[in-house]
Amino acid sequence: MEKKITVLPGDGIGPEVVASAVKVLQVIGKRYNHTFHLGYAAIGGAAIDQFNNPLPDETIAMCEESDAVLLGAVGGPKWDNNPPELRPEKGLLKIRKHFDLFANLRPVKAFPSLLASSPLKREVAENVDLMIVRELTGGIYFGEPRKKTNEAAVDTCVYSRREIERIVENAFELARLRRGKLCSVDKANVLDTSRLWREIVEEKKFQYPDVEVEHNLVDSVAMKLITNPGQYDVVVTENMFGDILSDEASVITGSLGVLPSASIRGDQFGLYEPVHGSAPEIAGQGAANPAATILSVAMMLQYSFGLKEEAAEIERAVNAVFEDGYYTADLARHHDRVLTTDEWTDKVLNEIDASFVSD
Ligand code: NAD
Ligand code: IPM
Ligand code: MN
Repeated sequence: MEKKITVLPGDGIGPEVVASAVKVLQVIGKRYNHTFHLGYAAIGGAAIDQFNNPLPDETIAMCEESDAVLLGAVGGPKWDNNPPELRPEKGLLKIRKHFDLFANLRPVKAFPSLLASSPLKREVAENVDLMIVRELTGGIYFGEPRKKTNEAAVDTCVYSRREIERIVENAFELARLRRGKLCSVDKANVLDTSRLWREIVEEKKFQYPDVEVEHNLVDSVAMKLITNPGQYDVVVTENMFGDILSDEASVITGSLGVLPSASIRGDQFGLYEPVHGSAPEIAGQGAANPAATILSVAMMLQYSFGLKEEAAEIERAVNAVFEDGYYTADLARHHDRVLTTDEWTDKVLNEIDASFVSD
């Protein structure tokens, strides 16, 4: 198979974790005889510094020519006081909107070998396997009007029927392929957008009689995700709730550094990015956990290219390295040896190579 991938390293630890993920992509290409053509482009703070634009036209053009996009992370203190249009995060929001990537899939799976690194009790965290389906191109992130003066500020949360229908359909379809359970998360006791959301889930459920649906308020789900995460299969929610709940859910796994994501729109194209940000305080130290970005490559292979076996091989290798007791600083407990980003990546590369030698 031959595919074009645009790589957007971004800021902070973005370039470090992307370099690791690209190495994994290349070894998979070599082992399974695929050619991945990689093109690099600028986004976020790096693009502001170079082009005074967090999402330059050249970057959009390169992504348009590609089959998929791999993104690191954007943002950092250097740009935190920039005007809204010149913030790194604006570049990320714009690329999601430009490509209509309305569905952000954020799987949260507890690796058995990481249970000791989670602050949750083993019996609470073990066997967790849920998927947060986050609406990504609507809601308060994009609604108009928005405005800020010294005296007041306004953001607008708006959802059209169609925007809700398509993400809800997506979540029902996914639930059907998994364990057949869907939890829709809203704040219908307060918000009109949530009331419309809940009505649409109620209408749609008749098309999916094989899926068991429940509605839950977001504040209560925030609690239950920590006390009893094992009850969830697919969790579908609007943009900002999904952002918050996914970082929260990362606690179950032991680190935000292991959560991948896929931002898709229902065809083959997709943007693959870790859930975490640019972690500026650890950037440049070789301390970043590259697992989230490596696992995002696995999602790319599966969702955009249909390469299930290759995706499974990446997941197997990552799991095997954890099983062998190798961790970056975010996951290491006091007696563990801490590996750098590159050392840990080498373990994954060796694991993949070794599985071919022994065949
Ligand atoms: P963050 O996700 O960057 O970091 C949160 C915490 O998790 C920090 O303690 C960090 O050190 C740790 N962490 C995150 N990823 C890690 C990894 N791979 N390995 C080890 N530790 C990891 O969130 P933040 O600190 O709130 O935000 C920093 C910047 O990142 C901000 O500018 C924010 O806007 C941006 N951000 C970008 C994205 C993105 O590009 N998708 C996502 C979230 C935040
Ligand atoms: C994420 C990030 C982004 C979001 C920011 C950086 C715009 O937190 O991808 O989760 O809020 O969507
Ligand atoms: Mn986030």
